[in-house]
Amino acid sequence: LVKACLFDLDGVIVDTAVYHFQAWRRLANELGFDFTEHQNEQLKGISRMESLELILKWGGVELSEEEKLHWATLKNEWYLELVNKMTPNEVLPGVPEFLNVLRENGIKVALGSASKNSRLILERIKMLDFFDAIIDGNNITKGKPDPQVFLLGAEATGCKPFECAVFEDAVAGIQAAKAGGMKAVGVGSSDILTEADFVISTFEEMTLDRLNF
Ligand code: BG6
Ligand code: MG
Repeated sequence: LVKACLFDLDGVIVDTAVYHFQAWRRLANELGFDFTEHQNEQLKGISRMESLELILKWGGVELSEEEKLHWATLKNEWYLELVNKMTPNEVLPGVPEFLNVLRENGIKVALGSASKNSRLILERIKMLDFFDAIIDGNNITKGKPDPQVFLLGAEATGCKPFECAVFEDAVAGIQAAKAGGMKAVGVGSSDILTEADFVISTFEEMTLDRLNF
């Protein structure tokens, strides 16, 4: 039986992908190029610095390590301007309801995110209290698809990996869950999240029964 649920943040609890996209696009534009929403898909679940590397490659721009740090910091400032305007209305449909069901049934809830801004975002959308543990970009040395973030999440809840179900919108995140020996539920499109055990399009479709397959 599933004893803990581990949730990705961006794209699962709240749709911050649009804000990441706006901020990265601003960076690209200032460096003299552009990229598409389709390319943006590849940035999901990937750390800030890895995202920057990919974007610079798309634009054919080479920067020194110092310049990369400068631009990554700037991007984060632009991103945080958008995050600071977020409200609890932006929590994705069915999420608080499902988290309440988990709590009522004694199932642990943890966050497993690549973001270093996760606490701020959870605060903005008033969701901090729903989580028994938070593992994010500040706690990890290896990004998804490495399972580290979810293994630490399992440990923090006192559960074994096989007792955990992970909810993820990114291909790299589903791979991380599977590499960690956990159940993986995709949130989004089954055409993209082909490695997931099953895929929901929103949490309104999610029930306790579906966890224990
Ligand atoms: C992930 C997002 O959750 O966090 C990525 O899907 C993002 O797009 C990554 O790059 C790191 O986020 P942050 O907030 O630390 O820049
Ligand atoms: Mg995500």
